[in-house]
Amino acid sequence: MRRKRKTEDSNMKNILFASSECVPFIKTGGLADVVGSLPKDFDKEKYDVRVVIPKYMCMKQEWKEKLEYITNFYMDIAGQSQYVGIFRLVHDGVTFYFIDNEYYFSGFAPYDGDPKWNIEKFAFFSKAVLSILPVIGFRPELIHCHDWQTGLIPVYLDNFRYLGEYYRGIKTVMTIHNLKFQGVWDTKAVQKITGLPDYYFAPDKMEAYKDANLLKGGIVYADKVTTVSRSYAEEIKTSFYGEGLEGLMNARANDLWGIVNGLDYNDWNPDTDYRLAKNFNISNFRRNKPANKMALQEELGLDQDSHVMLIGIVSRLTDQKGFDLIDYMMDEMCQDAVQIAVLGTGDPKYENMFRHFAWKYSGKVSANIFYSDDLSHRFYAGCDAFLMPSLFEPCGLSQLMSLRYGTLPIVRETGGLKDTVEPYNEFEKTGTGFSFTNYNAHEMLNTVRYAERIYYDKKRDWNKIVERAMSQDFSWQNSARQYEELYKSLIGE
Ligand code: ADP
Ligand code: GLC
Repeated sequence: MRRKRKTEDSNMKNILFASSECVPFIKTGGLADVVGSLPKDFDKEKYDVRVVIPKYMCMKQEWKEKLEYITNFYMDIAGQSQYVGIFRLVHDGVTFYFIDNEYYFSGFAPYDGDPKWNIEKFAFFSKAVLSILPVIGFRPELIHCHDWQTGLIPVYLDNFRYLGEYYRGIKTVMTIHNLKFQGVWDTKAVQKITGLPDYYFAPDKMEAYKDANLLKGGIVYADKVTTVSRSYAEEIKTSFYGEGLEGLMNARANDLWGIVNGLDYNDWNPDTDYRLAKNFNISNFRRNKPANKMALQEELGLDQDSHVMLIGIVSRLTDQKGFDLIDYMMDEMCQDAVQIAVLGTGDPKYENMFRHFAWKYSGKVSANIFYSDDLSHRFYAGCDAFLMPSLFEPCGLSQLMSLRYGTLPIVRETGGLKDTVEPYNEFEKTGTGFSFTNYNAHEMLNTVRYAERIYYDKKRDWNKIVERAMSQDFSWQNSARQYEELYKSLIGE
């Protein structure tokens, strides 16, 4: 008997996002922001977009308590039969599914453990995502996969076609949020974990440089590939940014879209943000924004002075973000009339570097080596400028948050930073921030000092830049329409 197609009685398209993190449940970086906010902005008349993530034990208790248990079954992975529990929660109008398995998801953080363990963990997740579909009563026309952790989904889907009609015709999109992370391990081991036939472990499929590469599998097997800015979509076709997969990116160039990220403009709104000392908007920031700086200075133990220029950094502390340039120039920058505040965790060498400078320039530099969502909002609101001199940046959300809160980004012209921050042009009176081209510490310092000059000597111009920054629209409005176009090209209207 022919299965009754859903589209015969409705034009609604079912889309399933699969990701390893998602706000407000679990977050280590911008991926979570994107997966947690984008689904809300699709046309609800046309798309039913749902999200599936792992049910991590390290998720906050308040969320775990809200989840509704659906069902469970057993599935083969890594030579064992493993429990797959399914939970569900409708939050902010979006349905979220959580895949439960305490053996894999009981760590203190989503990616703790060695690389092999992470590969096994997300191989389990990827196979489980496909396996739960028949039992949750939601057959997606398209699965939208995010980053290497879900790279096996398009591969398994190819393999599952042989199981019967159910899986045939489901389309996939693979979004690359960061090409640096690919999920690479020894081929034999990955073969054993995934249980996939030899066929998939060839250089034109999952194999890369003799190892198995999960992201590569996703890129090869997905119907379309996207990344999170136009510039990064171009950059990853070159050897400097291509992380060894530039050949593949070129091969798939016709199917590769660059769609810039947006922000949840309700969560990130300086006019209503309850975490701030004083709310502000584009018409009253001159009067109200300084109160946030004073409050932040007090909170961080910096000298309280509403006139001094406060430069903020909120970031994972990794090489990607340009911290070696900052390390090189920190003493120089601290000779100027500026304060520098950091909120971040990551590579111990950078954590210790900032601790050191906070000790050396006490009252002027503040190092906050921890993760705090609430404090990050106060950073974006209270600082005057935001420093992000990344070596590479697929999109970057921090500079978008800064723009929204009238904190001017100082960035290197790469990836999404180049696409979202327009450099100040003092002759044409245009621009929303400051930027430099080369990955060079002196270029960065010159640009910071240029920003200082505008801040101190041309305050009216500075405030005009703030006005332009705050009037930019980086909500999901535009980008969600582009994703809809992309889906349309695969599954029609
Ligand atoms: P990436 O995803 O490469 O880390 P993005 O700029 O896209 O970079 O996103 C980073 C996100 O993580 C932003 O929402 C930023 O505010 C947040 N973030 C990074 N470090 C911290 C921290 N220590 N505390 C709170 N938020 C943080
Ligand atoms: C990655 C990138 C960052 C991007 C984020 C969300 O973590 O490093 O540039 O904004 O994903 O797409």
